[in-house]
Amino acid sequence: AGVSRCAVRGMFFDFLDDPWKHAGKEHEAARFLRDGLLVVENGRISDFGLFEEVSPRHPGLEVVSLPGRLLLPGFIDGHVHFPQLRVMGAYGRHLLDWLQQRVFPEERKYGDRDYADKAAGLFFDALLAAGTTTCQAFTTSHPVATEAFFEEATRRNMRVITGLTGMDRFAPEASCVGSDDFYRESRRLIGRYHRKGRNLYAITPRFAVGCTDAMLDYSRRLKAEFPDCWVNTHISENPAEVRVARELFPDCQDYTAVYERYGLLGPKCTAGHGIWLSDDELRRFSKAGAAVAFCPLSNFFLGSGSFRLGRAMDPEHPVSVVLGSDIGGGNALTLLRVMEEAYKVGMCNATLLDGSLDPRAMDLAEAERNKFSPYRAYYLSTLGGARALCLDDLLGNFEPGKEADFVALDWRAGQAAMAWRQSLAVRDATGPRTVDEAAELLFGVMAMGDDRNVDETWIAGKRAYKKAATAA
Ligand code: GUN
Ligand code: ZN
Repeated sequence: AGVSRCAVRGMFFDFLDDPWKHAGKEHEAARFLRDGLLVVENGRISDFGLFEEVSPRHPGLEVVSLPGRLLLPGFIDGHVHFPQLRVMGAYGRHLLDWLQQRVFPEERKYGDRDYADKAAGLFFDALLAAGTTTCQAFTTSHPVATEAFFEEATRRNMRVITGLTGMDRFAPEASCVGSDDFYRESRRLIGRYHRKGRNLYAITPRFAVGCTDAMLDYSRRLKAEFPDCWVNTHISENPAEVRVARELFPDCQDYTAVYERYGLLGPKCTAGHGIWLSDDELRRFSKAGAAVAFCPLSNFFLGSGSFRLGRAMDPEHPVSVVLGSDIGGGNALTLLRVMEEAYKVGMCNATLLDGSLDPRAMDLAEAERNKFSPYRAYYLSTLGGARALCLDDLLGNFEPGKEADFVALDWRAGQAAMAWRQSLAVRDATGPRTVDEAAELLFGVMAMGDDRNVDETWIAGKRAYKKAATAA
């Protein structure tokens, strides 16, 4: 009794390995089933494989067919600010000025539970329409905002990571929380939400510029007391920010040393951006097992710079990378647009490394690692992101035992020219026949697509979003 079972039939695309480890033959890291069956029991995948093999094992099971769609594990957004949904696309400012002028005045409103509740509803609606099924989010420095977020995620049964955002300087008082309150409220929220349902808690000191020593020391204490919790912060996003951080922590040799000093850099720790990290700092991220959230839409929108993706992917010192929309620094929520921007970052990075500009700066191996192929892009949006966030025991692909969150992509939707573009890649009207054809269609979706390509989003084996039909 009480077992709910369902099955979905369609074209599945997921990853079993990291495509950066298969340069030149990246399809080896992927799995494409042209006619697959996913069986879900109580929200978890219980069986998966070719329809003709899996189906006989489940006689009488009701099957939902999703023809003409590519079914992928749900997208994972590793860095997003839930209270910034309304200030996306704010004109004309760089990070520190943008925070003061645009972000803090909006975030202050989240001290009001009604406002936070309403925003949380809109945020999760937007997330599902974007194809994102899991996020690691910042809230604000008001405990009620974190409560509103967890409550809404619980209603939707979504796997999320968030926590009270700690900031006790650099912002007006109404946008801050005192460090004693931060510690006490974080403990209370951890007790109330961490590992309750699908909720996970991240100890969240906002960034070194907004945190006093006391705030960071309380963060250290929280991580020591609750080692199972995640840690989420920002690092080296903008040159002016790096300079201020260095001034505030003169005893630290660099920005990374601040988080090292407070015991925060390790597995389950993610720092947003990391654009201006030195080679040495990237190596320390690698060694510690900490992740960088790569948020190219935001990095360009705020004029912050280009993340050195190919350097982070150095096989000698690989840094875990997760993609992030970083709204409202980013100007779109869907990872499809984030992937597109990451592709452009990679192309520009490669130009600097291919020797055409400066032969002494030539590094063809690093240039190659910047290439954001569809395999690499969708890997980072799914399994790679899950690995970076240490969620890959739960999420990231269609392996039995994992949670059944997935997205159904319509590769022809979106721009008027899309269907014709895609028909060049795949001539068969019934869809791709090989893994490379599927990857080519998926590249079209990331290169030209957006939310309109997200046809359905499923959470724990249930349809949670269906795109509204549009007039033909
Ligand atoms: N650094 C500290 N806070 C923020 C924020 O809200 N957005 C971004 N992009 N960077 C930050
Ligand atoms: Zn951010």
